[in-house]
Amino acid sequence: MNVGILTGGGDCPGLNPAIRGVVRRSIESYDYNILGIKNGWDGVIKGDFEPLTLSSVSGIIHRGGTILGTSRRNPLKKEEDMNKVKENLKKFDIDVLVAIGGDDTLSVANALWEMQMPCVGIPKTIDNDLSGTDYTFGFDTAVSIATDAIDRLHTTAESHHRVMVIELMGRHTGWIAVFAGLAGGADCILIPEVPFFIKDVIGLINKRKSRGKNFSIVVVAEGAKPEETDDYITQNDRVDDFGHKILGGIGELVSNLIEKESGIETRFTKLGHIQRGGTPTAFDRVLATRLGVAAADLINEKKFGYMVALRSNKIISVPINEALSLKRVDMELYDIAKVFFG
Ligand code: F6P
Repeated sequence: MNVGILTGGGDCPGLNPAIRGVVRRSIESYDYNILGIKNGWDGVIKGDFEPLTLSSVSGIIHRGGTILGTSRRNPLKKEEDMNKVKENLKKFDIDVLVAIGGDDTLSVANALWEMQMPCVGIPKTIDNDLSGTDYTFGFDTAVSIATDAIDRLHTTAESHHRVMVIELMGRHTGWIAVFAGLAGGADCILIPEVPFFIKDVIGLINKRKSRGKNFSIVVVAEGAKPEETDDYITQNDRVDDFGHKILGGIGELVSNLIEKESGIETRFTKLGHIQRGGTPTAFDRVLATRLGVAAADLINEKKFGYMVALRSNKIISVPINEALSLKRVDMELYDIAKVFFG
């Protein structure tokens, strides 16, 4: 059996442990041949395949990023790209494809499965916004990095009596912002799920002031929107290959408005790709490893068109198309975070 494996979309800590899990289980338990595909769907289109052996995945469990490389190339955009995908999967004799990715990458795997190409999915994204799974790997690492950043902003905010605004990743959902904000003791958390009024943010800062607290921490997810705006706040009109706007700018806007309308000195930090880089946490390494091993088991069971997932701390499998809908922040959790606002 020849198994192809790729990582697509934004990278995240845990991809290497997941690849290692698939390869080790596939070779040691099932004697499959594994072909690593470079740079996501771009590598399938270009035929950029290389054998993966036990030694290729040795010593990678602690490494961030992905040894296979990744891209946001979307073959569904052009018929000729999709034809190349089908041609190369045939040419390299791929019996099953393992796609490790978020909703974009998995949507291509699902389309291939609908065309009878056996595919198995492994969910990943720091945003934790995929339905079908309780958590995606990468999220825990991103939350740890963001919490550490909030802790650091706290001490300087307190010393200077300033408001500190920190913009975190989270295009459609505010999972990272809510978890890191709760853990870091944020005084206000703005998320895409709940449009906001700047006067309410300033109200919370003033409430703290009236309690003698002359500094505040405001956490903003990059996809958060003011109540009066329908579209994302961005610095320019750039989009990626899947047509998503490149986000960033809402934190700076919130920071400027706070300073202008409250008169309190305010500073702004955008954590950006630091959240996606570096060593995965132990939680992400273990989750990614479990999912990787389970994906090889799914192939053995011939359960194609499915994705491995975490539910109530057990690894299960769900149809890939179930993962494609968005998992928004649990409002009960956001209500808990709100207890500590202001
Ligand atoms: O992977 C999802 C994500 O982390 C989003 O939160 C963010 O908007 C996007 O990636 C940024 O991706 P890129 O690496 O393409 O700038």
